[in-house]
Amino acid sequence: MITYEWRGRFTNEDAKALHAECFNDGPLQDDWWRRVNEHSLGWVCAWAGEDLVGFVNVAWDGGVHAFVLDTMVAARLRRCGVGKTLVKIAAEQAGAHRCDWLHVDFEDRIRSFYFDGCGFTATNAGLLRLRKASEKETR
Ligand SMILES: CC(C)(COP(=O)(O)OP(=O)(O)OC[C@H]1O[C@@H](n2cnc3c(N)ncnc32)[C@H](O)[C@@H]1OP(=O)(O)O)[C@@H](O)C(=O)NCCC(=O)NCCS
Repeated sequence: MITYEWRGRFTNEDAKALHAECFNDGPLQDDWWRRVNEHSLGWVCAWAGEDLVGFVNVAWDGGVHAFVLDTMVAARLRRCGVGKTLVKIAAEQAGAHRCDWLHVDFEDRIRSFYFDGCGFTATNAGLLRLRKASEKETR
């Protein structure tokens, strides 16, 4: 059984391992726990027992706009509705915190997840790369 938790307690090791699995990068050294606590409206954890198997970060402008970032589900549990449930809880919580809009941007390969699975509608959006990935420092 998968359980979901808004602002659940996770370890940096949990988050790094899941991110590495989901985005095929090396384990980032980022301090996830500090970062989400200092900057996010919240986050949603999905747990299989004590294992962190899903996560989504809900960034916030301090007003009515929230932003979904780093939606991720462990490979062994994909296409079971975990991602959709994470985003649904993120949307409910953002609404409960008086946000009017939930934004996301994503690669073409997961259009269907956000549009068909999660109910987002298409809009124009833009993205500007400010630094190369190789110039990233630890946060
Ligand atoms: C994208 C991701 C979070 C989806 O999580 P998930 O738990 O597998 O998604 P769900 O099971 O809730 O999918 C709900 C619906 O979305 C759509 N969907 C999900 N993943 C899809 C995919 N890879 N391709 C096409 N449609 C997809 C389907 O309509 C699906 O319903 P169905 O399984 O009944 O057909 C997961 O694949 C993942 O972690 N990927 C790697 C990390 C990543 O790219 N994250 C996105 C960052 S923006």
